Amino acid sequence: MIVTTKELFQHAYGRYAVGAYNINNLEQTVGLFRGNLGQKNSNEEPIDPANSAPFIIQLSRGARGYTDKRFLEAMIRAAEDIFPKAVFAVHLDHGTEDVAYECIGSGFYSSVMIDASHETFDENIATTRRVVERAHEKGLSVEAELGMLGGVEEDISVDADNACLTDPDQAVEFVERSGCDSLAVAIGTSHGAYKFTGKQGLHFDRIAEIQKRLPGFPLVMHGSSSVPKEWVERINKAGGKLGDASGVPENQYLPAAKLGVTKVNIDTDGRLVWCAVFRETFRDKPTDFDPRTPGKPFMAAYAEYITHKNQKLGSAGRLESVRASLLGQPV
Ligand code: G3H
Ligand code: 13P
Ligand code: ZN
Repeated sequence: MIVTTKELFQHAYGRYAVGAYNINNLEQTVGLFRGNLGQKNSNEEPIDPANSAPFIIQLSRGARGYTDKRFLEAMIRAAEDIFPKAVFAVHLDHGTEDVAYECIGSGFYSSVMIDASHETFDENIATTRRVVERAHEKGLSVEAELGMLGGVEEDISVDADNACLTDPDQAVEFVERSGCDSLAVAIGTSHGAYKFTGKQGLHFDRIAEIQKRLPGFPLVMHGSSSVPKEWVERINKAGGKLGDASGVPENQYLPAAKLGVTKVNIDTDGRLVWCAVFRETFRDKPTDFDPRTPGKPFMAAYAEYITHKNQKLGSAGRLESVRASLLGQPV
């Protein structure tokens, strides 16, 4: 069942974070749906209520252009049919104004992100405001971004590092003037596999300051992959050459969720699982060239990984209460 992102946020706020997972292809889609129902090897496996979670599927502009956006929509519609118990929202990740309008008009999306964080403060507000007006007309919600995420290098001084973080006072003004429904905040993370070196990490003090000024307002954490050492090692043992990759420690998700981080974006971790399984498969079966040979174990591994992630986000085991609250029943 496709639901609005707003409904998922209302249920989750301050208690757990909803996993927002990027997909690009069929195997990721199947693994994602299975994992959110506590299944692993097959679509017919019994659903595990203790490991079932509401979730968000994110489609980036890159994903929409990889094959054709109509394939993504068709896959998700098919998954909705094949996994009738799943409760999820469909979200445009890092949209431009034009792509946001296209998604709003399509009737398929639950919410869009307008990423105008590279513009000036006033321009970012104006762009976001235009998208909000169009989206709200059609019942969609809008995620905006304030602050700058980026690669965090050890030689950047603390001041320069802090200068990129979201300013809590600006966040209040931004939300009031733009009318956005959730805000992606720069709180120390960056996209990709190389987030932290040395002592860097999440700036909990900054999250707390933002929450104090915007109580009850859903915050979004981009760049939330944990980049598990285990997967990086598996990739490198199978011929990969990843450097000193590191991500957000998984035990920091829930404390962040308690401070209003309601959506946690994860893409890189799924790519690592993909890369490890495909490398290992063809290393171990050098005469095999069937796409299904790595595809099958990938779907199982990705499903298992999603279930694990949801346990860390606190969303595992919440599916039934989300469904009940959507249907207006006591939870
Ligand atoms: O934040 C970006 C996401 O990881 C999507 O990446 O644009 O390569 O699909 P992509
Ligand atoms: P990661 O690169 O940490 O997975 O972040 C993904 C993301 O923020 C998508 O918008
Ligand atoms: Zn992002």
